[in-house]
Amino acid sequence: MATFEPVLLKYADDPDQHRIGTYLRHGGYQALEKALREHTPEDVVGMVRSANLRGRGGAYFPTGVKWGFLPDDGNPRFLCANADESEPGTFANRAIMDNDPHQLIEGCLLSAYACQINTVYIYIRGEFSFSYRRLEQALAEARERGYVGKNILGSGFDCEVWVHRGAGAYICGEETALLESLEGNRPQPRLRPPFPAVKGVFSLPTVINNVETISCVTHIVNYGADWFAGIGAADAPGPKLYCLSGHVNRPGLYELPMGTPLRELIYEHGQGMREDRAVKAIIPGGASAQLLTADDLDVTLDPGAITAKGSILGTGGVMVMDETTCIVRANLNTVRFFANESCGKCTPCREGTRWMVDVLARIEGGGGRTEDVELLLDVCDKINGKSFCLLGDVATWGLSSGIQKFREDYDRHVTEKRCFAAAQPMLAA
Ligand SMILES: Cc1cc2nc3c(=O)[nH]c(=O)nc-3n(C[C@H](O)[C@H](O)[C@H](O)COP(=O)(O)O)c2cc1C
Repeated sequence: MATFEPVLLKYADDPDQHRIGTYLRHGGYQALEKALREHTPEDVVGMVRSANLRGRGGAYFPTGVKWGFLPDDGNPRFLCANADESEPGTFANRAIMDNDPHQLIEGCLLSAYACQINTVYIYIRGEFSFSYRRLEQALAEARERGYVGKNILGSGFDCEVWVHRGAGAYICGEETALLESLEGNRPQPRLRPPFPAVKGVFSLPTVINNVETISCVTHIVNYGADWFAGIGAADAPGPKLYCLSGHVNRPGLYELPMGTPLRELIYEHGQGMREDRAVKAIIPGGASAQLLTADDLDVTLDPGAITAKGSILGTGGVMVMDETTCIVRANLNTVRFFANESCGKCTPCREGTRWMVDVLARIEGGGGRTEDVELLLDVCDKINGKSFCLLGDVATWGLSSGIQKFREDYDRHVTEKRCFAAAQPMLAA
């Protein structure tokens, strides 16, 4: 295992890292000082572009390119840090906010400076009350020291940062639903285009980036675009926070170069499978992602390689299931989540996800009919690509890949009228 010096989590284990004194002692706010003194906003955008930073919120869209979509119309612009982090199996943003909140705040200030933005909203998931308190404390410290507010460090750059708490709904992480929520409306997605960079919060240009993405900006300014571009996968470089969970011996948050092999994550960092059992399935990018199988263990964890395997890197939430796992039950578990979280705006997602839960529960409960598996695939087909936003699509991906790759689990449930995973008693339909 090659050693990799953490970047984003370098000081996360220091119990005082959330305080500004410790952050400053560890080199904090130097990137901001340097940018304000030595670089124009265009320089910072150029650095982020040359670093080839790609958004960690799941789609890996190039950050510098997104920033370039802001119209030059003289209107005020906004930055929203997406701290909703509701994807099952994902806990990277929270670790940054809890342990090193100034890192995010500095990244917000640098991104705002680059995009000539004077107002930042950190939109945080409602349930994250500890992270919220940490951020508020850090912001108060940063304001007191002149890093946030008017005329930052005498540079003439003004920037205010507000933390906005969501009410706790998965859909609030979808960028246009987030904007609705921020405006005080029911969080339902907006039609795109226009994209938020053109028409965002209060109908004004708005950049939306994930917490991990924004945190990377601080280090790009500190150590340079070439340093960042040289880490890990060439087409999506940089450090990546992988959230490892499931049937491994040592689940946890691992910062590694983008493109670390899946096998290395599970068997070296995660110290292998519980009770030395075999891997059956892997969800590589949060519950939204399509299942991979043990045959895919040598894939590298970067967006291009995972897409080539028919899945997505998504949030980097890697959930590992061993040979005792019932895929019908695993699929039911995630589909039930998406059905609960469907915002109800469009019919395919609102109705279809409920249908999927009903049929899956019937199969899992031993009452499945021969035609049910094909029925499920048909329902997936009626939702995927036909929903208003991606929530409907991703609700189907785990299920359709589960049926395609583990059809035997489904057929045995239907023919034997039982769940063969002995350790798991059957659920009532
Ligand atoms: C249903 C749904 C939920 C999402 N949840 C999140 C989330 O919790 N956090 C996040 O950063 N992005 C989330 N996204 C992606 C955002 O819409 C958006 O692409 C992202 O915040 C952009 O940031 P990035 O360019 O830094 O990746 C979600 C997307 C969808 C469709």
